[in-house]
Amino acid sequence: MTATITSIAHYLPPDVYPNSYFEKYLDTSDEWIKARTGISERRFIKDGATSDMIIPAAKQCLERRGFKPEDIDCIIVATVTPDHMFPATACVVQNKLGATNAWGFDLSAACSGFLFALVTAASLVESGTVKNVLLCGADKMSSILNFEDRAQAVLFGDGAGVVLLEKSKDKEYGIIDHILHIDGAGGPYLHQVAGGSYKPASIDTVTNKEHYIYQDGQAVFKAAVVGMADVSLEIMQKNKLESEDVAWLVPHQANLRIIAATANRMGLDKDKVMINIDRYGNTTAGTIPICLSEWLDMGKLHKGDRLVLSSFGAGFTWGAIYLRWGMNK
Ligand code: UT7
Repeated sequence: MTATITSIAHYLPPDVYPNSYFEKYLDTSDEWIKARTGISERRFIKDGATSDMIIPAAKQCLERRGFKPEDIDCIIVATVTPDHMFPATACVVQNKLGATNAWGFDLSAACSGFLFALVTAASLVESGTVKNVLLCGADKMSSILNFEDRAQAVLFGDGAGVVLLEKSKDKEYGIIDHILHIDGAGGPYLHQVAGGSYKPASIDTVTNKEHYIYQDGQAVFKAAVVGMADVSLEIMQKNKLESEDVAWLVPHQANLRIIAATANRMGLDKDKVMINIDRYGNTTAGTIPICLSEWLDMGKLHKGDRLVLSSFGAGFTWGAIYLRWGMNK
């Protein structure tokens, strides 16, 4: 038995911040940002939390499937920017939706959050523990960005993607295989130093800007370019997939150069790679479901398409999922 995505939707805040926004007050340029990252613009939510981006996407996702909130069995929210340290954003979402029959939890795996949550959700559905999971990948990165630091402010954006996962009627479609990894030795290169139990928030942590993202860009880049490309090729080989068998690579959108290296390793042309980093930047747990939802809306994703989803992020966390898309627009 396989689990499959039976509905999907996404939400992006309306306010667009082009590279020129940063040029006005940071020592940066549109040229540098585009050349080094592939990003032209991103969206930031002005008012509201991560759950406020999830709710419109979740409502649309349910409506498209003809589900009522009370039909949801389980809610998983993959995020590193929860509304609060606790309770879980899954509880906030459950309450705002009125999903009175659901249980759920948050999952923290940064940019790999959606992939880790998808495998978790699929296991719950396949084992018969639940009939369905509302899986939300969302981050309000603007809440932890140091807007005075050009090395990180330009990289991220806010957004949410939501999928409904159910048992597949036909075992040909759905989540077929996965390879997931964590390596905590990568922690120091990309993290949020303070605000947790290790270093609780204090006047000093705020003064020292330790509640923002810390990233050693080059170290993460080097690990990501190898990790994401290797795992994507490995899942192809494990499932005897040739490059012509893959309809789409759906990569985490952190840097166009990392995406290009991954596609190259898999022997895929650019026209088989979902890319929207130019418009939304890195929305962390949101990137992959937002891509899937956009491509379905555009009519570019078809039933039977073989997809490789892959990601690399803080932790380090990385991995790839092979799935066969099971729904039409
Ligand atoms: O999604 C989570 C996982 N994260 C990632 O996968 C991100 C991985 N890392 C990257 O994507 C890249 O390392 C960055 C985009 C973050 C940086 O690109 P880079 O080519 O690795 O640049 P760099 O850090 O080596 O910096 C090169 C230069 C430096 O100046 P000097 O020291 O050579 O004078 C930086 O200060 O570029 C400078 N720089 C900038 N210049 C203009 C850094 N940020 C900027 C900026 N505008 N925004």
